[in-house]
Amino acid sequence: MHIHDFLGVEHPIIQAPMAGVQNSELTLAVSAGGGLGSLPCAMLSHDALKAELEILSAQATHPINLNFFCHTPPIPNKEAENQWRHALQPFFNEYGIDSTQIPNGPGREPFSHEIADILEAYQPEIISFHFGLPSKELVDRVQSWGSKILSSATTIEEALWLEANGADGIIAQGLEAGGHRGMFLSDDLNTQMGTFSLLPQIVKQVNIPVIAAGGIADAQGVAAALALGATAVQVGTAYLLCKESRVTDLHRSALQSDTAHHTAITNVFSGRPARGIINRAISELGPISAYTPEFPLAATAITALRNKAEAQGSADFSPLWSGQNTSGCKEISATELTQQLASAC
Ligand SMILES: Cc1cc2nc3c(=O)[nH]c(=O)nc-3n(C[C@H](O)[C@H](O)[C@H](O)COP(=O)(O)O)c2cc1C
Repeated sequence: MHIHDFLGVEHPIIQAPMAGVQNSELTLAVSAGGGLGSLPCAMLSHDALKAELEILSAQATHPINLNFFCHTPPIPNKEAENQWRHALQPFFNEYGIDSTQIPNGPGREPFSHEIADILEAYQPEIISFHFGLPSKELVDRVQSWGSKILSSATTIEEALWLEANGADGIIAQGLEAGGHRGMFLSDDLNTQMGTFSLLPQIVKQVNIPVIAAGGIADAQGVAAALALGATAVQVGTAYLLCKESRVTDLHRSALQSDTAHHTAITNVFSGRPARGIINRAISELGPISAYTPEFPLAATAITALRNKAEAQGSADFSPLWSGQNTSGCKEISATELTQQLASAC
């Protein structure tokens, strides 16, 4: 299927929604370049979401994608939290942090009817989900406005599940991808394949469009994914240095240095596995810690360390999300990067 018939944009380039490091400025810049701009909404309060939707509805001239998480919210567990704080205690001591006085960390709110109430007035063209899909009622509700639904699959089983449960397109997220794994049927990290193993196998098994994500960083990578049957690609890491990205200076420098050659999948920043550049938190607490509370509760305690360390100019406890391929990161406008990525299509 041609990308224009599927998502209403000119180029088969989707800018990956990247919670915590971008806002609608990046979305609009990608959209101006003919790609599908995405807005990550998982970490926005309802008021912040409304404000971003106002900006997009006033300025976007092409379809855009709104992205939400759909995890089951955890029941806070004092014992699990204490266990995590105990693991972090040596670092709290080093930074002079009183572990009983830590404010709540960054929340991640799953998609809900309250959020759908906000979206209803805007009837977005495309909504993508991470960690599966929301309830059937919510899927039906957003599709009744004409919204198309996309979601990430890290295995063939997840792709088949998404197709059977109403997705209009599947994002085949390979092992190389930066940020959180969209995995939702299994928590065995060994189930995830590299992008170019996963993509053609999913393409063979499903009857809806497949989008390739993970490690795609230039026009040749885009062409290779399309040759393997992708209808479009979703690119995250390559956009991180763009002028319209909001990565911190510490994250920006890490992406530009040789340390970016070594990433790992870690759960220490949120409680769910995600790929980032190896730093002290990952090497001394993980990469996979047995002590984290459920997603996203691990973020609270480690964010206290992050804030103290960052105030001293250190990225030791920051989530430096990145995929394995940073070779396409450029300090140019996301409009131009989108056009460059599409240049061999
Ligand atoms: C900094 C960062 C944040 C991310 N946040 C999200 C998110 O909020 N929602 C989501 O669906 N995917 C998120 N992802 C994953 C992307 O959707 C995508 O799978 C990934 O960026 C593709 O691989 P690449 O980074 O190698 O291009 C994030 C990725 C990065 C690098």
